[in-house]
Amino acid sequence: MMTVSDCEIALATTDDIPGIVALQSLNLRSNGGALSIEFSSDWFERVLSEMPIIVARREGRIVGYLVSSPLSAAANMPIIQAKLRAYPGSSNPYNHGPVCIAEDERNRRLISAMFQALRKRLRGREGIAFVRRDNAASLSAHAKLGMRQAAEFTHDGEAYVVVAYIA
Ligand SMILES: CC(C)(COP(=O)(O)OP(=O)(O)OC[C@H]1O[C@@H](n2cnc3c(N)ncnc32)[C@H](O)[C@@H]1OP(=O)(O)O)[C@@H](O)C(=O)NCCC(=O)NCCS
Repeated sequence: MMTVSDCEIALATTDDIPGIVALQSLNLRSNGGALSIEFSSDWFERVLSEMPIIVARREGRIVGYLVSSPLSAAANMPIIQAKLRAYPGSSNPYNHGPVCIAEDERNRRLISAMFQALRKRLRGREGIAFVRRDNAASLSAHAKLGMRQAAEFTHDGEAYVVVAYIA
């Protein structure tokens, strides 16, 4: 069996963006996945110039990504506004997420390896993420990382949990 240790965990470069967007596409809610928002290549490129995006690569393929972004990068998105109304944070907060792992790589803590790589780059800052309340796997994974449930909100009739931590 392939293990997490066969994976390369790295800071993303612009060369990784097509792989990130491809993985995102497979996991959008509109395609039966769990991701609520579709971000464009341009968005990833802009964010990458400002804050870390961590990727997991296996044999050159992107099998996971974890995004951090400035609050300003998503300030025009209603769901992000709802998140920050529910929990504005303190300590130089940033948007933590989205995070996504390829289906065949789940349930072996790859999220933790990416989380540790991000965390060491953002020490002292508060990461704020949201998870749909019916996404049990994601809630469980975030709880195991030590992210605490800070608030709840509803958006477009769906219930979400805000999870946060100080890196
Ligand atoms: C959420 C995600 C990033 C977690 O990454 P991961 O590396 O698989 O995380 P973990 O290895 O900690 O596994 C997730 C946990 O959820 C559990 N789990 C998996 N499927 C589950 C399900 N359908 N219901 C409940 N729990 C589930 C696993 O058993 C595991 O818990 P355990 O270690 O106590 O057994 C990954 O599942 C993913 O990319 N999902 C699709 C996109 C997504 O939901 N992104 C997050 C949006 S907020």
